[in-house]
Amino acid sequence: MARIGLTGLGTMGAALALNMADRGHQVAVHNRTAARAHEFIEGAGPLAERLTAAEDFKALAAALDRPRAVILMVPAGAPVDQTIEALLPHLDKGDLIIDAGNADFNETRRREAALAVQGVDFIGMGVSGGEEGARHGPSIMVGGPAESYEPIRDIIESIAATYQDSPCAAHLGPDGAGHFVKTVHNGIEYADMQLIAETYGILRAGGQTPAHIGELFEEWNRGPLHSYLIEISGRALQTADPDTGEPMVDVILDRAGQKGTGRWTLIEALKLGQSATTIEAAVAARSWSSMKEVRVAAEEILPGAADALHPVLDTDLECALLAARIIAYGQGFSLMQAASDHFEWSLDLARVAEIWRAGCIIRSALLDDIAKEVRDGLPHGLLILAPYFAKALGDHVPALRRVVSAAVSAGLPVPALAAALGYHDTMRRGRGTTDLIQAQRDFFGRHGFERVDREGSFSADWN
Ligand code: 6PG
Repeated sequence: MARIGLTGLGTMGAALALNMADRGHQVAVHNRTAARAHEFIEGAGPLAERLTAAEDFKALAAALDRPRAVILMVPAGAPVDQTIEALLPHLDKGDLIIDAGNADFNETRRREAALAVQGVDFIGMGVSGGEEGARHGPSIMVGGPAESYEPIRDIIESIAATYQDSPCAAHLGPDGAGHFVKTVHNGIEYADMQLIAETYGILRAGGQTPAHIGELFEEWNRGPLHSYLIEISGRALQTADPDTGEPMVDVILDRAGQKGTGRWTLIEALKLGQSATTIEAAVAARSWSSMKEVRVAAEEILPGAADALHPVLDTDLECALLAARIIAYGQGFSLMQAASDHFEWSLDLARVAEIWRAGCIIRSALLDDIAKEVRDGLPHGLLILAPYFAKALGDHVPALRRVVSAAVSAGLPVPALAAALGYHDTMRRGRGTTDLIQAQRDFFGRHGFERVDREGSFSADWN
């Protein structure tokens, strides 16, 4: 008998099943096309002895110890509901379904509530780290009833990445908390990728080759920017296309896809009255990237900047990227705090930072510092005001200003770097320009305003 089942043997599902088998667990695997499950086990080498193929959900249920636990690794949205519907008749009260794909946490909440009525437990579990992580140690963000997680906790912790011997897996809160945190992880991932890409764009505009930029990233990866995304960007930039010998990035079309997690982050940010502008800039940049033909045409129609790019120091770019990364993380953490307050999740954000230190896509040297600062308590709830980060921003924002100025003057698009700077400069200004917004609102709609010198709500006679 198997301790755990898994349905959905795509890239991530297959890697996760092998990871569990590798850690000594008996796993029953199922796939919509049954042949795939057999093929998968045939290709599993010595791990095959810990894997059982189930032709259908009846066989999957029959292969599992009770209470049963089944991991779903199927595409987000309708496929998850369809899989649950097909699996449910074969489950009993007290069994557990774990959705380990990326999911809109609103759907996770709905599914958990609907399954609870039937006595079946449901866990929304974010898994980060791509194929390599899923196979050898991802970061795992669990949400749902704590007691539902308990029976599988040892399996999940055994397959997770570790940071200083501590597993990068945690139960973070009830209902959609795990999937929400995973969504914000991906939002930060979008922002960080975009910030790195903009920095690369400035270096290329300055005449540097991809290979040289790759070497520079490799060097940065040995400093405070140390992170998985800088590492793989450096390696990607040093890779040549085997067909043409050209740098690989030069033969890749500048049009990026997105599966929706970045967009979900923004939607939830707006619903919660928050704004994650670095993430928004990154999502926008991906959407604009898809308008390839329009951009090619617009290049001929709209005039560019008159100025050439002023030389930008590599050290300025490194510092600018670090400052912007801190701000992107800060926006992500503010958003998670707002969701935690709103949904009463009591999210332990220091723990979130801790389980992101290894295994996940946004793992970086900063996360250990973030964990420490969050544990100590963030002044006014803002990461950027924590002593360590306030000092880092004080040191590095001047470089961010120089970099954004140079790029803007030369007409180079830097929406995420500029968004980070805009947020920083807005937050550090005790009195902004919203006095005029309030005047405008009162002018056209008598919406009222507060005064600096008296309590109460006022309206002016604008005519
Ligand atoms: C991870 C990744 C993973 C996946 C994203 C990519 O944490 O392992 O984020 O979840 O690669 O879904 O998302 P896009 O296709 O939207 O870029």
